Amino acid sequence: MTNNVYLIGFMGCGKSSVAEELELHYEMKRIEMDQMIVEQNNMEISEIFRVHGEEYFRDLESRLLAELGTKEKQVISCGGGIVLRKKNVDMMKQNGIIILLTAKPETILSRVKDDDARPVLKGKKTVQGIAELMENRRAKYEEAADVTIHTDGKSIAEICKEIQQKLTKIGE
Ligand code: S3P
Repeated sequence: MTNNVYLIGFMGCGKSSVAEELELHYEMKRIEMDQMIVEQNNMEISEIFRVHGEEYFRDLESRLLAELGTKEKQVISCGGGIVLRKKNVDMMKQNGIIILLTAKPETILSRVKDDDARPVLKGKKTVQGIAELMENRRAKYEEAADVTIHTDGKSIAEICKEIQQKLTKIGE
């Protein structure tokens, strides 16, 4: 695989764990976008949102995505909001293949309930709150995706096997 693989999907859908596993099995460099933004700015994501606001964070995210697009053979775990800007989706399409991971709101809630690092989920950590946020973004995720993997009830190894099979099928 020379193209980049972009993992997208709602917060807590397993992008980081899948990226770790893919890195082990393919000769690809793993990139955690949120982690890079934290390191580059020396601030936690929640702090960036609080001090500078969401648009500022989205600008950092778009800028990093553009930088990453100049390199190849990376498996990139994107922040859940990467699809909010069409130009981000265009950049990803140009530079690789986009894999959407999905999970039920109940599954997401069980994974994020004790985590305060995600400002977008503040005050919305209920099945209904998550379902609403997901629904607001659903069309954007679906339009961006080249491949969609439903992750509920599957192990990380099973998810990666499915990704591998689907990529082989579409000739990646
Ligand atoms: C966000 C998702 C987060 C992070 C930020 C905003 C979102 O990434 O980029 O808190 O808008 O969905 P994860 O999907 O890795 O949690």
